[in-house]
Amino acid sequence: MKRFILVVLMAAGLAAPNVFSQKFEGLAMTPPMGWNSWNKFACNVDEKLIRETADAMVSSGMKDAGYQYVVIDDCWHGERDAQGLIRPNAQRFPSGMKALGDYIHAKGLKFGIYSDAGWKTCGGHPGSRGHEYQDAQTYASWGVDYLKYDWCNTDGLKAEGAYATMREALRAAGRPIIFSICEWGDNKPWEWASNVGHLWRTTGDIYPCWDCEKNYGTWSAWGVMKIVDKQIPLRKYAGPGHWNDPDMMEVGNGLSNTEGRAHFSMWAMLAAPMMSGNDLRNMPAEIKAILTNKDVIAVGQDALGVEGFRAIEENGLETWLKPLNDGGWAVCFLNRADTAKTLDFSWKSQYMQDGLSNKELNAARDTYKIRDLWTGKDLGTTASNLKASIQSHDVLMLRLTR
Ligand code: GLA
Repeated sequence: MKRFILVVLMAAGLAAPNVFSQKFEGLAMTPPMGWNSWNKFACNVDEKLIRETADAMVSSGMKDAGYQYVVIDDCWHGERDAQGLIRPNAQRFPSGMKALGDYIHAKGLKFGIYSDAGWKTCGGHPGSRGHEYQDAQTYASWGVDYLKYDWCNTDGLKAEGAYATMREALRAAGRPIIFSICEWGDNKPWEWASNVGHLWRTTGDIYPCWDCEKNYGTWSAWGVMKIVDKQIPLRKYAGPGHWNDPDMMEVGNGLSNTEGRAHFSMWAMLAAPMMSGNDLRNMPAEIKAILTNKDVIAVGQDALGVEGFRAIEENGLETWLKPLNDGGWAVCFLNRADTAKTLDFSWKSQYMQDGLSNKELNAARDTYKIRDLWTGKDLGTTASNLKASIQSHDVLMLRLTR
């Protein structure tokens, strides 16, 4: 009978159903949180750094705040052995990756690694092209929980197929692994990747400046505000298990404290993956306070999983809204300008509606309590105007609750 059905399907021109052709479901139901080595350390990675970072993730309170994944980006690689199996760089990772994964897991954290769909990684190390199934099995045997998969040296490959191949390989290896697609938004992954990966980069690399473009000749890296702007048309594509990824964070990597706070707030408003990218071992108190703000994190991790949107834009002062699972809203006033802004905001005269989630913020009808998520103070209710001053390159981030 089964054979008969298959023959009928094939006769009808339909492909035989693929046993996998599904990513691992039930992972990344809220945006992944963790740390990635690239932004701060680039190719200077070794097992000492990774172990110390895992230690610091626990001792700093970041683990308690929700950070889980410790991800080694490019340059951990050695060469392939005679069977084609990838080995770590033996000088940098003398204890091997299984031992490193065990160390990370013993801390209650999860282990992430990096590869590339092409023949070489962006840093020139062996890529996974032609070794996808071997690599997926190797990663699974090391206890890997998260794979970031880059797009350098992929001439002639089609992104959708190349990423689907690695998805199949990960499925075949059998270990649930978050699959993080990193082709910089070049092939519009938001249109095809929701069943391929759990998150996809939407842009080229981030750069630790407020609103600059860092031109490298053949490509550019983008300041935090430039990245934010590129997310605006994409919100409808994200949701539980499939997130837009505006890149790892630069909090603690040279932005001012207000800029770091604004950057972090906006990643929460965008329901972005929150991968810290600084040196966790030497964090100034202000940086730690930003990265572990549980009220802001709760906005980013909200179970509704709807990205925020820009509702109002006026002379460099933007009002962003994000609907929340409890029926409330996160509201973020973002001052992009070089001077402070004063705010006299009439909630009652601003009716705001989100067509995507079908939620409305109608303060003329409903009264909300207001909490300032950076000071922790209650600011009364939406019955009266909100008066505030917002420094240049800073935010006022609020949670409105019925
Ligand atoms: C690309 C990615 C970065 C990083 C580097 C590593 O540029 O976009 O996030 O992984 O490669 O070489």
